[in-house]
Amino acid sequence: MPVISPELCTQCLKCVNDCPSEAIEIKSWNIDASCIHCGHCVAVCPEKAVQPDFGSIVPLVDSNIQLEDFIHLTASVRSCRRYKSKSIPKELLDMLVENIKNYPSASNKRSLKVTIVQTPEKIQLLNDMTQETLMKAFKLISGKVVGGILNVIAPNLGIKQLRAYMKKHAERNKTMKQQICYEAPVVMLFHGPAGKFGMVKDDAVIWATNTTLLAKTMGLGSCFIGFIVKAMEKNKTMRQTFHIPENHQVFAALTIGYPKVMYVNEVSRKAPEVSVL
Ligand SMILES: Cc1cc2nc3c(=O)[nH]c(=O)nc-3n(C[C@H](O)[C@H](O)[C@H](O)COP(=O)(O)O)c2cc1C
Ligand code: SF4
Ligand code: SF4
Repeated sequence: MPVISPELCTQCLKCVNDCPSEAIEIKSWNIDASCIHCGHCVAVCPEKAVQPDFGSIVPLVDSNIQLEDFIHLTASVRSCRRYKSKSIPKELLDMLVENIKNYPSASNKRSLKVTIVQTPEKIQLLNDMTQETLMKAFKLISGKVVGGILNVIAPNLGIKQLRAYMKKHAERNKTMKQQICYEAPVVMLFHGPAGKFGMVKDDAVIWATNTTLLAKTMGLGSCFIGFIVKAMEKNKTMRQTFHIPENHQVFAALTIGYPKVMYVNEVSRKAPEVSVL
């Protein structure tokens, strides 16, 4: 819970008016239990009179990123599937992790954890275990019986495409060392407590997405690897191998490294359809 220092407070009411929980009683400088730990009171106080839950008060620095800069940045982020064999300096990797504190989470509990896989042997193992788990799942789904039934009841699932994809995937596997991790120097796993309630999965995707943007500003490429998420979901041994706690699931996985390929054009996509009510 944040704490208000009476000796610094001028009772300007900025924190009171911005608190989403109406948790602040300024006459007594008390914050009640309805506080959702959003930190807005810390962020808004001009007197630095509100001590945060964690850490110290850090004044904001004006960002000079213009609208066009953000549009250009997001347009230029591509999924990177070819990495240079160059490791990421520790300072950059630390910064990628440190900056996660600035990304939001649904409940402010911030129960997600990050596992960094960075030795070539472990990345190869992650690649191979994912590959093996997926091939088993592919075979099951696209097998004659299940595939036939699925084709009748869910033709949109595209069993034909799945079979074609699977075939190519298996063929490529004979020559390609890593079809999952792309020989990236780092794989980041975002994992947290599994459960029906809560929005930990959403937090993971937000944290990972922002990480890809920050990585881009560092000249790094990245790629979301849904295959790892799906394999980790199915394979307990895999979770144990990568020290994912018993009650956790991996909700997002990113490969990160220096890109081999530079793009010069946008990929050109449609903006989503919008309904205005
Ligand atoms: C949630 C998510 C999971 C993805 N999983 C994989 C994956 O397992 N392997 C892969 O090569 N690409 C994966 N991708 C990358 C997409 O294929 C890619 O974003 C898409 O083709 C568009 O290309 P772009 O990211 O370069 O714009 C994933 C992307 C997202 C958002
Ligand atoms: S914003 Fe700061 S100075 Fe203003 S009422 Fe709140 S604690 Fe006091
Ligand atoms: S952390 Fe958020 S909810 Fe809690 S008192 Fe401050 S503004 Fe209100």
